Amino acid sequence: MREKIVIANWKMNPSQAKDASSLFSVSNQISKRYKTTVVVCPPQVFISLFPKNRYKKLLLGAQDISTKETGAFTGEIGSSVLKPFGVSYVIVGHSERREMGESREVIAEKIKTALRNKITPVLCIGENKRDGEGHFFHFLKEEILFFSRHISKKDVNKVIIAYEPVWAVGSKSKGVMSSQDIHETIMFLRKILSDKFGNESASKIRILYGGSVDHKNSSEIAKVSGCGGLLLGRASLSKDQLENIVRNLSK
Ligand code: PGA
Repeated sequence: MREKIVIANWKMNPSQAKDASSLFSVSNQISKRYKTTVVVCPPQVFISLFPKNRYKKLLLGAQDISTKETGAFTGEIGSSVLKPFGVSYVIVGHSERREMGESREVIAEKIKTALRNKITPVLCIGENKRDGEGHFFHFLKEEILFFSRHISKKDVNKVIIAYEPVWAVGSKSKGVMSSQDIHETIMFLRKILSDKFGNESASKIRILYGGSVDHKNSSEIAKVSGCGGLLLGRASLSKDQLENIVRNLSK
């Protein structure tokens, strides 16, 4: 069976380079101990501190990527800059970036740029709120169908989907989603993918859960069938939390 995966999204943390280096080293130690793939996504400025030649197992991701590959695009960081440092994953469409105004069209371009450069896009999707009538299912379906139009069948299992209900993400979160609801939603997403790309391709797509995962709830979520791993925010900054979660996913 394929190893489950943890995407550690450090967001805008830590503020000191020395703390980023020690977080790399702690994450590397943890990744070596368990059969779980761990990808750390530091702030872009710390990417160059990642000792890619020394680390055998820990992988490096970026929190964002430019739609452009190189050229006169002030402030942007493209694949030609990221790749030489060993970046092999990139988070796209995170709710915090969408809140800053990133559109679905731009997110789709980022997915295409990443795929062209052999960087695995981790596409975040999730509803802002859960209503009693199930309108959020309609929203999720629309999101998947929109992005599916930009991904070819041969590339679809090179994309990771991180289901992150926006209301469960970050320090203002209303708490983690129940395992039952995570299971139902992942099945729902997989069904839409299967209608679009066929059963075989859809069954290979990794779908992760993210939003308020911690050492206490991760053992239950790790058992959700069809869930290929977890996207962590806050918990990825704590050695103990990260180790617990990575261990739970390795079982
Ligand atoms: P959280 O963040 O784990 O702190 O809720 C998750 C995310 O931002 O992806």
